[in-house]
Amino acid sequence: MGLFNFLKGKPKLPETGKQHLSPKPDAGLPESEIKVTPKTGETLATVILNGKTGQIVVPEGNTILNACLDQGIDAPFMCESGVCTTCRATLLQGKVEMMACYGLNDEEVKKGFILTCQSLPKSAEIVISFD
Ligand code: FES
Repeated sequence: MGLFNFLKGKPKLPETGKQHLSPKPDAGLPESEIKVTPKTGETLATVILNGKTGQIVVPEGNTILNACLDQGIDAPFMCESGVCTTCRATLLQGKVEMMACYGLNDEEVKKGFILTCQSLPKSAEIVISFD
């Protein structure tokens, strides 16, 4: 995580409400040559968004969405409660546990869709795609 992203914090929310539906073209993903190293209990997450790939660390007990936003990734979200599916991504590698999953049916979950606002990583590495 770069110092700029650390100082920047979560992106500013639109004045119309707490939601974010249109990611920036660069997706806010860290440069691919920047390597991040997770500590014990953390998860290394490879994130694909808007055709770009970057890596972040998801601290233990954090949702994937919160880790993305905390580290400057412009991930889409709206309700943050597992209902709207705006934060939906595909889990390509690794394991996650969803605390709630109101917006996905069983078939979608079997296909690998996850709600990142409700997903806690349960493996040392995960790969997800918002695309
Ligand atoms: S932001 Fe609505 S389900 Fe995740």
